[in-house]
Amino acid sequence: MKTRFKSGLLLVSFAALTQVNAGQYPQKKIEAYQQQGVSQIDAKRGKQLWYSKTDGRSCTSCHGDNLANKGKHVKTKKVIEPMAFSVNSERYRSDRKIEKWFLRNCKWTLGRECSIQEKADILSWLTNQ
Ligand code: HEC
Repeated sequence: MKTRFKSGLLLVSFAALTQVNAGQYPQKKIEAYQQQGVSQIDAKRGKQLWYSKTDGRSCTSCHGDNLANKGKHVKTKKVIEPMAFSVNSERYRSDRKIEKWFLRNCKWTLGRECSIQEKADILSWLTNQ
């Protein structure tokens, strides 16, 4: 019992430490991409992809030019909350949500799925805004 309690404490303090080092959830997601084989993450490349245009479409078509501001869905005109993690900490908290929207939005915008490398680059850039 005593040892269990101790190792519990250890775990808690370890978790607290890694929180300080690794930041919040998005960092875990980025680490998951690394575990899937992405060795070099480049936020600049992510930014380029975000602003690049394919047949007149880009990520900014819905999310807007400024990540700190709200966006507007190009078709439904619905407001989309800011993507910049610094102003919207509700962002990038769920694996399922991130993957769902990467899939849908890369297909719509680029006409194809994004690779794991591209997702890691983009997410790294988004979460540092
Ligand atoms: C046609 C409109 C549209 C375009 C274009 C678009 N998105 Fe989105 N995106 C949305 C909507 C709607 C949501 C979900 C609503 C929300 O999270 O506020 C979303 C959510 C996301 C999320 C999930 C954020 C979270 O909090 O987990 C990611 C990641 C994302 N988009 C990435 C992209 C990328 C990368 C591109 C360009 C390749 C892109 N989006 C282009 C409409 C769009």
